[in-house]
Amino acid sequence: MKAIVYTKYGPPDVLQLKEVAKPEPKDNQVLVKVQAASINALDYRRFEATSSFGRFMDEVLLKTVNKVLGADIAGRVEAVGRDVKQFQPGDEVFGASAGSVGAFAEYTCAGENLLALKPANLSFEAAATVPVAAVTALQGLRDKGKVQPGQKVLIYGASGGVGTFAVQIARSMGAVVTAVCSTRNLDMVRSIGADQVIDYTKEDFTRSGQRYDVIIAANGYRSIRDYAGALNPHGIYVALGGSMAQVLQAMLLGPLVSKLGSKQMGFMGIAKVTHEDLVFLRELLEAGKVVPVIDRCYPLDETAEAIRNLVKEHAQGKVVITLEQNYVTQPAGGN
Ligand SMILES: NC(=O)c1ccc[n+]([C@@H]2O[C@H](COP(=O)([O-])OP(=O)(O)OC[C@H]3O[C@@H](n4cnc5c(N)ncnc54)[C@H](OP(=O)(O)O)[C@@H]3O)[C@@H](O)[C@H]2O)c1
Repeated sequence: MKAIVYTKYGPPDVLQLKEVAKPEPKDNQVLVKVQAASINALDYRRFEATSSFGRFMDEVLLKTVNKVLGADIAGRVEAVGRDVKQFQPGDEVFGASAGSVGAFAEYTCAGENLLALKPANLSFEAAATVPVAAVTALQGLRDKGKVQPGQKVLIYGASGGVGTFAVQIARSMGAVVTAVCSTRNLDMVRSIGADQVIDYTKEDFTRSGQRYDVIIAANGYRSIRDYAGALNPHGIYVALGGSMAQVLQAMLLGPLVSKLGSKQMGFMGIAKVTHEDLVFLRELLEAGKVVPVIDRCYPLDETAEAIRNLVKEHAQGKVVITLEQNYVTQPAGGN
C-alpha cells in the first residue's frame, strides 16, 4: 500500500510517498481503509525531531514501525481482529490509528477503543479533523477546566485545530466564550460562536480588565504570570500546548502557583482519544453544535506541502489529507 513515511529527521522534504506492507490487525484491532486523515502538531514534531529528546520519543517511546506518519483517520472498516465486538467490515468510522501504524496511508489499524462510528452528517474529510484536536479541547475544558454553564472562558489560540473545537465545545457547555486569535481569523471565530473576540496583534487581553473563570491556552506565548493575572480568584488555567516555555512554566510552576494561591494552573498532559469521548463528540457534531473548520484538503502525495503550509501560514482550523488512487511512489527501502 502507499504511505507517507520518513527515513530521516528534518524539514517536511524528508517525507516520502512509498510502497509499504499493508498492516495486519491484531486480535483487538480494526483494519481501516483510510478515506481521509488530518494533521496534528505531534505529526510534524516527530519527523522534525530537532532535539535528542524528540528523537528518543520517536524511536523508543512511540516505537514507530515503518515510520508511517499521522494519527487522525476517517475511513471504512476492511477487516476486524477476532476479539473486536463493536465494528464489522463496511462500517464507516473515525478515530486514531494505533501508535505504531500511521494514518497517512491507504490502510491503517486501530484498537476498537480508539474508534467510533462516523457522524452520519459529516464527510470523511470533516470527520478526520475531529479525533485528536476535539478530544484535546474536550478533555481540557471538561476534565481540567471543569467548565460550568455561565462561566467566562477565554480560549487562547482559538483559530487553529484545537482552538476552533474548544470555542464550540465551550459554547455547547453553556460558557460565555472569548476567543483570542489574529486579525484575519476574527470573523471565522465569531462565525463558530465566540461571544467576544480579541485580536492578539492589536490588543493585550491581560490589560483589558476582564477576568475569566477558565483560560484554555490551545496555543500561546504568554507567561504563566499573565494568565494568572487574568483569572478570577478561583479560576483555572489549562495549557494544552504552545511554546516550550509556556508548557514548561505550566508543568513546573503551575503546581507551585496552585499550592500558594486559590487559582489552579497547569499543563493538561497528552489527551487520550477514547471511544466514549468520540461518541460524545459525535452527538455534538450530529446535533450541529460543533462544526469542523477545514482550512484546506491535500491529496496524500502532497502531505509535505500540506505540513509546510500549516506551519507557515497559521491554518484556519484543520488541514486534511485525502486518499486518492494512482500515486507515483518511490521504491521501498530507498532514502
Ligand atoms: N495536549 C495534547 O494532547 C495536545 C493535542 C493536540 C495539540 N496540542 C498542542 O496544542 C497546540 C495547538 O495545536 P493546534 O493543532 O490547534 O495548532 P494550530 O492549528 O497551528 O493553531 C495555532 C493557533 O495558535 C495561534 N497562534 C499562532 N501564533 C501565535 C502567537 N504568536 N500568539 C498567539 N497566538 C498564536 C493561531 O492564531 P492565528 O493563526 O490567528 O495567528 C492559532 O489560533 C500545539 O502546541 C499542539 O502541540 C496538544
